Parts: sequence; C-alpha cells; structure tokens
Amino acid sequence: MKVLQLLLLAALATVPGWSQDLVGLYLMWQSDPATTMTVNWVDLHANSSLDVHYRRVGETAWSKATGAKFSISDTTMQGRRVELKGLMPDTYYEFNIGKGIEKPTEGWRFRTMPRDLNRPVRFVTGGDMMHTRQKLDKATGSAAALDPDFALLVGDLAYANGVSSNRWVEWLKSWMERAVSPDGRLIPMVVGIGNHEVRGGTNGKIPEDAPFFYSLFRTPEQRSYYALDFGNYMSILVLDTAHTVPVAGTQAQWLEGALAARKDKQFVFVGYHYPAYGTTKAPKGGTPLDAKRSIEIREHWMPIWEKHGVTAVFENDHHNFKRTHRLRQHKRDDANGIVYLGDGAWAVQTRTVPDLANGWWLAKAEGRNHVWEVKLRANGTSTVRAIDIDGKEFDKLDIATPRTKPVE
Ligand SMILES: [Fe+2]
Repeated sequence: MKVLQLLLLAALATVPGWSQDLVGLYLMWQSDPATTMTVNWVDLHANSSLDVHYRRVGETAWSKATGAKFSISDTTMQGRRVELKGLMPDTYYEFNIGKGIEKPTEGWRFRTMPRDLNRPVRFVTGGDMMHTRQKLDKATGSAAALDPDFALLVGDLAYANGVSSNRWVEWLKSWMERAVSPDGRLIPMVVGIGNHEVRGGTNGKIPEDAPFFYSLFRTPEQRSYYALDFGNYMSILVLDTAHTVPVAGTQAQWLEGALAARKDKQFVFVGYHYPAYGTTKAPKGGTPLDAKRSIEIREHWMPIWEKHGVTAVFENDHHNFKRTHRLRQHKRDDANGIVYLGDGAWAVQTRTVPDLANGWWLAKAEGRNHVWEVKLRANGTSTVRAIDIDGKEFDKLDIATPRTKPVE
C-alpha cells in the first residue's frame, strides 16, 4: 500500500503546475459527516474555478457543485470552499477541483462516515504539530498509516502565531501530501484552536487575533467551540481554552446545553488545547495543576461533563504523552472517573514530565511524540491506543462503557 501512495505522489509531482499552484487541499465537516463533505483548497490564482466535480467510486457520471471564495487573512492566497451535500453514508467518492489544478486521472478520494456504528469507527487525535516540516511529515504519515476515518487536531497546528503565512503554507502542504490513507483516501480533519493560532502566540484574545484559523477553517457552528455529531453513535465537542473565547460564561453555558442535548449519544468525546491535568508548565512552587487556566477548566467545565458523562477527554499543549487515572471531583476514582488523554505532542519537541510519585493524577507520562487512536465498536466498547511517531503502539486502554456517569 505504501508503494501505491508513493506512485500516487510521484504521478502528482509530474503534472505541470500542480505542485506550484495548489497550496493546500483539506476536507472538513460543517454538518452531517455521513452525508456531507466540505472540500477546501488554497491556490494562487484569483480567477481559478470554484467547481468540484464528484461521483461515487464506480459510477460513470460526474456531479458538479460550485462553492465560494474566501480570503486568508491579508495574504494573496485564494481560498475555495465547496460543501458537498446529499452524499451516501459510508461511501467512497472521487472528486476533482477547479480547472488547472485537478488530478489528472480519477480524482482524489474521500469516504463519508457511516450513519450507524455498523463497522468499527476509528479516529486519531493530537495537537502541537509543526516545529519542523520534516518531523510533521513523518508524524502525519505514521498517523495516516493507521487508516483513521478522520483526525481531530486540537491546537498549535502550524505555529504561525496568527501572522506567518509561510508556516500555514508548509502545514497545509504537509497535510495534503501525508494525510492520505493506505488506500489513497484524503483524511478529513476536525480542528480546535490553540495559543499558537493567535497573534503573538498568547491567550485571552478575540477571534480577530486568530485570522488564519478563522479564515481557513469553517466549523459546524463557525466558532472555536462547537459540537459535531456522528449519527447517534458519537459526538465530539471541541472547546477553546481561553485563546479567543473565555472559559467561563457563554462557552460554559453552551457546553451545559450541548451535553444536555446529547444524552442519547453513545460515545461523547471532549477535546481542547490547554490541559486541566497537565504534565508541565507548573507555576513557581506548585504543580501543573496549579496553573490558573487548569483551575478554571476544572471549575467551570469539569462539573458539567462529570454530570452528563463523557467517554474521555483529550488535552494538548504540554508536548508530552500522558494518561491520567480515572478522575472525578478532582480525585482519583477508579470505578467512576473520567480519563484525560494528552498532552499534545504530534510532532513538536517534547518536554519533561513529573515523577509519577509527584503527580497523583497521572497513570503514565513520558516525553514522547505520539497520536491517540480511538476505535469504537458496535457493542459499545472502545479501545484507545497511543501510537508513537514510528507507528509503534506504547499504551492501550479499553473503555468498557461508552460514557462514564456518576452513580445515581
Ligand atoms: Fe499550546
């Protein structure tokens, strides 16, 4: 299969104009992942086509959908976005994009998500992605080799700090070339915001301070916090850990309503950038748990997901691997606790972790690049694995029940 990918890339590289003109091509969802797909691309031509031609694999006739332009911060790059609707669930499609930059043969491929959990569903997640392009390429290639349905990328993607268009170009190109499944399918992304999406790489800002994030990515609710529902079997809630929206207030109120409205969802995952149960960045004389934002998350969000129940929580930003014990009410609770998985080390330089004797919340921690791979099964069980940058599994956790709720 690797050979097939290499041949594909070699073929693309020989198409005149392809590699120079197309900066990025990436798939996302604004609505139902079983019946829609948003095709986004970035090129350098102001008048390039807005059309996507697509068909089910095996069909002869092409359909056409025409999208809209979007500008990318204050650069001359040209964003194009087309939401394909009315697709069939769990089905392979092939597509071509605007004139002059289409792939010459049958087009790129994607697969819609199943409407029901009638086959195992698998996704990968992580954050803190690009210190160097070379390492990002390798890490994304290893993640793609796991054949995930999609990737949940939660913050500090290009390390562009709201200003560096070059870093976004590198990140987008890397994704287009490497986030390809073994059978040649482009892997869709679900994204969240981190501090390095914001001007100056800081926090406590407003959306206007993260111009690339908000222009490149069109999320279901057009915000940095939102829910994405996969039939009745899974919901993913993405949150903004005070990068452009405060933790408390509107976002916390939305979280309460969003979880209350999803009582019937089989699996629910929460993902955000800055951790409540981190592994580094301890304030002077304290532990990582004493960081102001970690306290805020535990105060304003944690009681909400402890009340409604979630499957697991994904955290990032600290550039390590970590798995917490099962936790509830800020204590270890092996029977009814929720596990926090992190800590954002897709392809960045890793850091040091606390000695486990000084980190009561940690079951395991290590400075190691990795992604988390989540696999859901129809029988209501799921398995989460940590896979390192060389594709090696080094941690594994079976989650017996879809959602951990307090004992009534
Ligand atoms: Fe970060």
